[in-house]
Amino acid sequence: MQIDILTLFPQMFQSPFSVGIFKRAIERKLVRVNIHNIRDYTHDKHHTVDDYPYGGGAGMVLKPEPIFEAVESIKSDISLKQGVDVLPIILLTPQGRLFSQQIALELSKYNHLILICGHYEGVDERVHEYLATDEISIGDYVLSGGELAAMVVIDAVVRLLPGVLGSEASPLDESHATGLLEYPQYTRPPAYRGWPVSEVLLSGNHAQIARWRREQAILRTLKRRPELLDKANLSLQERQLVSRLEKSNLPGESKGK
Ligand code: ADE
Repeated sequence: MQIDILTLFPQMFQSPFSVGIFKRAIERKLVRVNIHNIRDYTHDKHHTVDDYPYGGGAGMVLKPEPIFEAVESIKSDISLKQGVDVLPIILLTPQGRLFSQQIALELSKYNHLILICGHYEGVDERVHEYLATDEISIGDYVLSGGELAAMVVIDAVVRLLPGVLGSEASPLDESHATGLLEYPQYTRPPAYRGWPVSEVLLSGNHAQIARWRREQAILRTLKRRPELLDKANLSLQERQLVSRLEKSNLPGESKGK
């Protein structure tokens, strides 16, 4: 997958891509990330990227020209190399659709993404309307720019690409992939400071372990994010378990303090 990022702060992207699974994915050529400074697409002496909002008001607005030109330059580069049918051009903005595991999965199917990081008070509306094909928000709060949001989106997408994680199976099990939160995980020692690991996990009985994990995932989701259960893919028996648990007073989760 190729990812092109348009930003006013290219230096913000240095460390996330130089460690861990990203570094490995880039080295193995599973992903290529190009960072473009929006300022490089200006034509005036001062490299102006923003201007006062028409109609007045606080703050500055990102101008459309450098952003359009940056995207057009990236697109002309790739169309020379390969025919591109669908190339999502994603604007990171608090006004976008709310990012989720489902959207990460959807984006992981493309072989190319362009991400535009907004800044200041906003981006000229013509970028929203005539350039971006998608707008994504990572949550109902306002960041000072789209860079951190772009990193969140890229991280969630890249780890879904085939071969990026060590074990192919692991992304399927984890929180949200199944529509449920993930079951609790333990490693050695079997008892730590008097807190034991469930006997089931030490039993070596894989069927029992799978059942225990599924129940724990359901229980945890019910306690922490009950709204997720409406959409989760549960069997009839599991639905019955949920109703029983809902009727009994769920014990609160101890933080062990
Ligand atoms: N830019 C500023 N806030 C944002 C958010 N919550 N999501 C995506 N981009 C943003």
